[in-house]
Amino acid sequence: MTKITSALLATSLVASALLADGVILAQKTERDVTKLTPDSKAWGYVKGTTIHLYPQTALSMNDKRANALNEGLKAKEARVKAIYNSKNIAFLLEWPDGTRNIQRGYKSDVYADGFAVQFPVNYSNPQKLPYIGMGSDGRPVVIHLQKAVEKVYEPNGNGDVGMQQNILSKNIFGKATKEFARKVEKLAVKDYQRSFISEGFRSMTEIKDGSEKFDADMKYGDKEWKGTLVRPLKDSYLNLKGAFPVAFAAWDGARLNRDGQKMLSGWIPVKLVSQNGGEKLVSSLTAPVKGDAKHGKELIEQNGCTGCHHISGLSPKSYMAPGLDNVGGYSTAAYLRESLVDPSAVVVPGYNRNAHPNTPWYNVVDGKRQSAMPPYPLDDKSLDDMVAYLKTLKSEVK
Ligand code: HEC
Repeated sequence: MTKITSALLATSLVASALLADGVILAQKTERDVTKLTPDSKAWGYVKGTTIHLYPQTALSMNDKRANALNEGLKAKEARVKAIYNSKNIAFLLEWPDGTRNIQRGYKSDVYADGFAVQFPVNYSNPQKLPYIGMGSDGRPVVIHLQKAVEKVYEPNGNGDVGMQQNILSKNIFGKATKEFARKVEKLAVKDYQRSFISEGFRSMTEIKDGSEKFDADMKYGDKEWKGTLVRPLKDSYLNLKGAFPVAFAAWDGARLNRDGQKMLSGWIPVKLVSQNGGEKLVSSLTAPVKGDAKHGKELIEQNGCTGCHHISGLSPKSYMAPGLDNVGGYSTAAYLRESLVDPSAVVVPGYNRNAHPNTPWYNVVDGKRQSAMPPYPLDDKSLDDMVAYLKTLKSEVK
């Protein structure tokens, strides 16, 4: 066994004895992690953490076909591994997907499989993490996105020229074809490898100045994708140390997934093994939910929540407010509690304000978004019970 692998194995065993399930233990190594790909052997020596990806059912799209394809979806079980050194951290995400959907060239009528990894810029207060998937006002997130695309060789590297080669005419162009294939392998532009900074829906801004360096890769086989992401621990947006939250999203091209229509994890704590700190964050994100879910359900029916929100079995589909069917899967208990007592702290702005002008999800008052939801300043016990019920709202895992 090489040095890197035996060291990884040793720290992995020690750390996993100390920490609860649902924590990603990033193993420390002295080696360069920037070259890690989905195929790297090193991953075999790192303990994986099982996570769940839930269908994002808060919003539906203005696309009937896509909505129908995503109706009643189950959650997916995925696995995450992480390795870091003094400068960089690498993640491996493995998730099931029955079909490989690749975007070819610049056609926009085909939707690609893809994945994203997301970090809160500020995670010092685990009670006030950004809105999952998108960030929220004053609580930005950095999002790294990788979509599966066919490699395109572009001599000028500007992303605007597609070149074609007739690989069937081997007799005439055999040598040239080989040379071309070699160039494609080496020079191909990995389209759709992008970083964003986001403080909520429609505020997603691509970071184009190159200050947010990362590298990602995707590989398909055995009906699953493996994706890797490597990025610095520290740069001008993020400072990842001790323990910090991460979230993952996956898009399924076969279900016409794009934008907000995706599968999404909650905030998951990453612990940098052999670094101190972040205990508060880890315990907050892994604490069992207190409260009586059965009583919480009664309170939710009594308080008129279902008049605005869709919850399967309790209320019909609605444009009035986000659907809550998977809110327990991708939201923290702290976020759900805050949603009840202070709905305007994080506003989910809805998918199309103009499509349903009579039922906007928020209004702008003095330049600030004000939720259409009334606050519910109930007693602690009632809030605990309602949060406990909301945490049960999630699709079963396939
Ligand atoms: C008058 C309509 C209305 C009522 C009644 C209402 N809500 Fe809401 N709720 C909204 C709207 C609109 C939003 C989206 C804007 C925001 O984020 O505050 C929302 C957001 C939420 C969110 C965040 C959803 C997400 O996807 O992140 C939760 C959780 C929630 N409400 C739970 C409740 C519960 C529980 C009740 C009852 C105690 C309730 N709501 C009552 C309209 C309502």
